Parts: sequence; C-alpha cells; structure tokens
Amino acid sequence: MQKDKPFSQACENNKAPILEKLAELFKQPGTILEIGTGTGQHAVHFASHLPHLVWQPTDHPHNAQLARAWIDDSGLSNINSPIALNVLDGNWADLPEIDGAFSANTAHIMAWEEVEAMFRGVAGALPKGGIFCLYGPFSYGGQHTSDSNARFDQSLRTQAPRMGIRDMGDLKTLGEETGLALEEDFGMPANNRLLVWRRVR
Ligand SMILES: C[S@@+](CC[C@H](N)C(=O)[O-])C[C@H]1O[C@@H](n2cnc3c(N)ncnc32)[C@H](O)[C@@H]1O
Repeated sequence: MQKDKPFSQACENNKAPILEKLAELFKQPGTILEIGTGTGQHAVHFASHLPHLVWQPTDHPHNAQLARAWIDDSGLSNINSPIALNVLDGNWADLPEIDGAFSANTAHIMAWEEVEAMFRGVAGALPKGGIFCLYGPFSYGGQHTSDSNARFDQSLRTQAPRMGIRDMGDLKTLGEETGLALEEDFGMPANNRLLVWRRVR
C-alpha cells in the first residue's frame, strides 16, 4: 500500500508535467539512466506511461534500495533493478548501455564537485546525440526566478554549505567542458525548469 512506501509529495505534483516533456523528448525505444532516483515514484510513473523505454534507476549507495518498493509493487517489466551509483565514485562502466539520461532535483542537493561528476559521467555514458534531461530549480546570472526559490536556496545552504541552487552560467560552462550542449530550457510549474542537454562530442 502507498502509505507503506517512501513518498514524496513533490514527485506526485511534478510527475505529470515532466512526463509530458519526456514523452516528446524520448520518442525512440531505448534505455534511460536515472540519477538520484529517490523514492521511485518518477521511475514507475515514467516507465508505465512510456512502455517503449527501459528505465534504469540508480541512486547513491545510501539510497539505492529506496525505490525498491515502488518498483516491485508496479509489476512493470520495463524497469530494471536499481543500481547503487555514487556519481563521485563513478562506477559508470558497470551500467548497462544507455540511450538517454534523466535526473530530478539532484543538482542542488549534490556538492558542486558531484554535479561536475554527474555531467562527466552522463556525457561518457550517453551515445553521441543522446540527451540528458535535468529537472529542478536553477538561477540565472545569480538571480533566483522567485522569492520561494531564494528562500529554498538559503535554507539549503544553511543546512549544508555544499548544497544550493545551481546557476545556469556555471552549468553551461560545465556542459561545454563535458561535451553537453544546452538545447532546451523549459519552464515548469512551481518555478522549476527542465534542461535538455545533448551530447555533442
Ligand atoms: C532531493 S532527492 C531527489 C530524488 C528524486 N529524484 C526526486 O525528484 O524526488 C536527491 C537525490 O540525489 C541523490 N544523490 C545525492 N548525492 C548523490 C551522489 N553523489 N550520487 C548519486 N546520487 C546522489 C540522493 O540520494 C537523493 O536520492
């Protein structure tokens, strides 16, 4: 039953608008790597609505089994078992071959060096032309897109200085360094964005 499973209200709120974009972006059959899967609600929702895809959940070893209950209860055959992946340790070579990648609400939780490692790892795992969809709140030129994002950023940095909302300028520079070009930047509900990065080299 749902109440026995890890639950994120944010996932319930954002899964439909994210799915709408993913359905457009991941039209071809293939395997999608998810970084920082969390509860597994996203994985189950996307895999059930996009049956032409195989969903590969991963998360930090501390959280890698968190998604197990949602995945097992779903009975879906197009979700693989979650893999323990700390982007920083980078056991990327152990992952199955992938065609695309997705991550939600991870860049502001990870330290900047982990964000760098995520971009490097995803770029190395994607085929040339493959896309990486990164969802979450981002700032532009150091300016937050809403007062609530500014407060959220402040609360993250108070909890742990290594966390915080990432700036698009820094991410674009990182994308250039790692061979991921920003192709789209979609506005999403609740002051979030869906960034689409394409591996260009
Ligand atoms: C706020 S949660 C987001 C979970 C889920 N994607 C969602 O949208 O609800 C951040 C996730 O990032 C993961 N994470 C943090 N550091 C990580 C790392 N170094 N490697 C892999 N995952 C990491 C955490 O384990 C957690 O599952």
